[in-house]
Amino acid sequence: ALSAPVSGKLAGVKVLLTAGPTREALDPVRYLTNQSSGKMGYALAHAAARMGAQVTLVSGPVALSVPVGVNCIEVESCQQMHEAVMTEVENADIFIGCAAVADYRPEQNEPQKIKKSKDKLTLTFIKNPDILAEVAALPKRPFTVGFAAETQDVAHYARQKLEKKRLDMIAANDVSASDRGFNTNLNALTVLWQNGEAELPCTDKSTLAQALLDLIAQHYKNNQN
Ligand code: CTP
Ligand code: CA
Repeated sequence: ALSAPVSGKLAGVKVLLTAGPTREALDPVRYLTNQSSGKMGYALAHAAARMGAQVTLVSGPVALSVPVGVNCIEVESCQQMHEAVMTEVENADIFIGCAAVADYRPEQNEPQKIKKSKDKLTLTFIKNPDILAEVAALPKRPFTVGFAAETQDVAHYARQKLEKKRLDMIAANDVSASDRGFNTNLNALTVLWQNGEAELPCTDKSTLAQALLDLIAQHYKNNQN
């Protein structure tokens, strides 16, 4: 029943999303990653497809099945996600960056397993590309939506990110609340744009995804006029 369209609000609109964590390899058997189940991104992809959109999901490693009607490109590292997004974004009307991208990657990806020969191991990390900021800076950019994971002053830090990355919209998560967010089916969002904001109260991720996409569709359409 969930594959039936709920509305045609995004009929013919091309939506590109990122979801899940990225994995930054240290050696062939070890990596650095972020906390993310991918549930919110997959719920958004599903909801967008049900609203009639043509959906492409660039996903890091997660234990979820691809929603019906969604084209999924599987990646591991931020660099792979970056490459896939930059290729796909040319066709996108709306970009939603939902992935928990690793901000840094190990400077060296050792070709062989690191042996525990030393008493102390020091690693150097280098900054990854900011996929969302790059999309937002494109000359012909899609309607660009970011996420912000914050543990304090949620609306304040989210508005800073909205302005700094020059996004059309940002959806902020309070990740300090233990009853929602990571690895649960519940979440709440504070959604901000240039001259307004909305609170989407705590509910299941599928309902929340629909509510967020309704907001995105509304603002996307206003931008077209
Ligand atoms: N993001 C991205 N590429 C990165 C880092 C983040 O596309 N290399 C995107 C995320 O998908 C999210 C948004 O940027 O939509 C904000 O991520 P967040 O970690 O909250 O913010 P950062 O800008 O990385 O800043 P910080 O981690 O310092 O708070
Ligand atoms: Ca970050």
